[in-house]
Amino acid sequence: MINEENKFIKKDYKKKINLLDKYNKFYYEKSSPIVNDQDYDNLKNAILELEKKYKFLKNKKSPSLTVGFKPSKNFRKVKHKVPMLSLSNAFSKDDLVNFEKKIFNFLSLNKDINLEYSVEPKIDGISASLFYRNGNFIQGLSRGDGIEGEEITENLKTIKDIPKHIPSRNFPKEIDIRGEVFIQNSDFINFIRNSDFEKIKNKFANPRNAASGSLRQKDPKETSKIPLKFIAYTFGFTKNLDSITQSDFLKKLKRWGFKVNEYNKIIKGIDNLIQNHKNLEEKRKEIDFDIDGIVYKINNFDLQKRLGFVTNAPRWAIAHKFSANNSISEIIKIEIQVGRTGALTPVAKIKPVSIGGVLVSNATLHNEDEIERKDIRVGDEVTVERAGDVIPRVISVNIKKRKKNSKKFLFPKKCPSCGSATEKEYNEVTKKYDAVRRCTSDGFECEKMAIERIKHFVSKEAFNIDGLGKKIIENFWELKLIRLPQDIFNLNYEKIRNLEGWGNLSVSNLKYSIDSKKIISFDKFIYSLGIRHIGQENAKLLSTHLKKTENFFNLSKNDNFNELLNIDGIGNTQISSIENFFSNKKNLKVISELNNVLKIVPEISSNKIGILSNKTFMFTGKLVNMSRAEAKSLIEKNSGKIISNVNKKLDYLVIGEKPTAKKISLAKNLQINIIDQNQLFKMLNEAN
Ligand code: IVH
Repeated sequence: MINEENKFIKKDYKKKINLLDKYNKFYYEKSSPIVNDQDYDNLKNAILELEKKYKFLKNKKSPSLTVGFKPSKNFRKVKHKVPMLSLSNAFSKDDLVNFEKKIFNFLSLNKDINLEYSVEPKIDGISASLFYRNGNFIQGLSRGDGIEGEEITENLKTIKDIPKHIPSRNFPKEIDIRGEVFIQNSDFINFIRNSDFEKIKNKFANPRNAASGSLRQKDPKETSKIPLKFIAYTFGFTKNLDSITQSDFLKKLKRWGFKVNEYNKIIKGIDNLIQNHKNLEEKRKEIDFDIDGIVYKINNFDLQKRLGFVTNAPRWAIAHKFSANNSISEIIKIEIQVGRTGALTPVAKIKPVSIGGVLVSNATLHNEDEIERKDIRVGDEVTVERAGDVIPRVISVNIKKRKKNSKKFLFPKKCPSCGSATEKEYNEVTKKYDAVRRCTSDGFECEKMAIERIKHFVSKEAFNIDGLGKKIIENFWELKLIRLPQDIFNLNYEKIRNLEGWGNLSVSNLKYSIDSKKIISFDKFIYSLGIRHIGQENAKLLSTHLKKTENFFNLSKNDNFNELLNIDGIGNTQISSIENFFSNKKNLKVISELNNVLKIVPEISSNKIGILSNKTFMFTGKLVNMSRAEAKSLIEKNSGKIISNVNKKLDYLVIGEKPTAKKISLAKNLQINIIDQNQLFKMLNEAN
């Protein structure tokens, strides 16, 4: 009798599984679903219920293990046709006033203009770029480092909010639709409830991690286990998009079948932005997904185009973050971390507390002065703050609850990593000592500094070496496999193959990802060295100015450091830091050995060579209806260069209102072309 019943149950189960298979095939492979979401979910749930009740049913085909389509291969790296940028942050009214002031100055706008903003809640998820051709979803990429992303098309196809085909006639022929992939809080809670938390807690600690983890699963069937959502908000590359404002584009997105944020708005004026920010911050708890701020975008696309970008972020948009969440905890221990540039950062190990849904057990105490000023001690009860993706920090101490036997914290005067002397630098400008104490050893001599420098070297913005994460670098350091950056390119793979956790496949993957980075752009190379005060922007300025790598390698040979002062944006602080870097023999050895194994090429630029290529310009007098910054950026966009002296190298002196007579006469003597603003525009129009 029992057997008979089991037979019947098995048959019913099999029928249901086959039907689900069919649904999946139409949904995932043919991109044309044959049932609605409700019916699909009902069927899937019925199967899961059966499995729960009759354990013998569970098998390889179970929908809790599979949804019946082919797994994707390893993720391929694909270059974004238009880079995926990030946004600068604003935390206060001052920041917003500043942001708008810069826009007014850049565009030389009349003070009484009231700029219109597209106001969009900033969902705390993972951004993705979806490429459509002739209305079909062709390829989906993750953000990656903003320049190239991972091809995760199959995983993105499992998201129901992402239209696979858009029949609308006014949908552009080709377009990257960009937006956020995320998990609703209620779905996340359900997922956690139905999972073995111990097993998944690292990958799925909060909704954002879970979205990221699930999007990057090697196997799309894993991705489909968590119900991901997608909200669209911008575009990358496009042909024939006919919107002239962001708000119009958002409306079109909705018509084409994308989800857009229901809280999107159009707002004019900073005071109104702030009122809206306050309202949404109060409403935040009622919303079923995490938002960590509000994005403000200049609504008009023409103005956006004129404003353009600085390194990684647009001038026309900003993210107004929400204030942080706080919790109370106790300091168990104060540890001193040594950073890449030798900065000693005190970190409080605290009794783990949940702040805004994230478990926090470390909080930064910033620097020696901060500990002194707040008299922070081990054993103190403290308030810890966590704001978005920023490192949690101790903001105050509850002195009333201080234990009687507590002792003042003594900040170490020697580097805890290498024992070298430490110092606080004296700032000639502010006539004050720096708040940060630093290790004085020579970079690679101090273990912690060296490890941090190597981590920086392989990081996303530098060499971007996949498979060489922080933990692996620490492990390889301990095993003496990597001590200097160049060791990465001469790894003993035989030895690695025999280490625990490594096998043929992982070693060959690592080798492949290292070898593929042996060609590097000049600016990334400079940035990767981790020279203090030389971030991405300054590295770009240096590489553009120096042009050839030899000029960089010979800087110290020719004692040419002061020549760098000609670079707009590079000052004494950067120069003395570069000089300092080159005065260290070990650094010289590092760069020369790297030069032997690498091919350092001029910046790989997607921009075509502009019509003003090799032409130099200088301004004198005030321009009309346009700031110098905008004119400069227009010239640079077309490969021209701005210089700051009238000399033989100058091609054009651009005169505005009230020019300096001396500059004009000097230019005349040198037979330099003197043009006015209109002539400059004419040149630029021809260029575009
Ligand atoms: S616009 C250049 N709009 O915020 C324009 N981004 O730090 C950049 N984000 O990586 C993107 N909501 O993941 C834009 N309505 C919104 C957004 C948004 C969330 C995220 C996105 C991006 C990050 C920028």
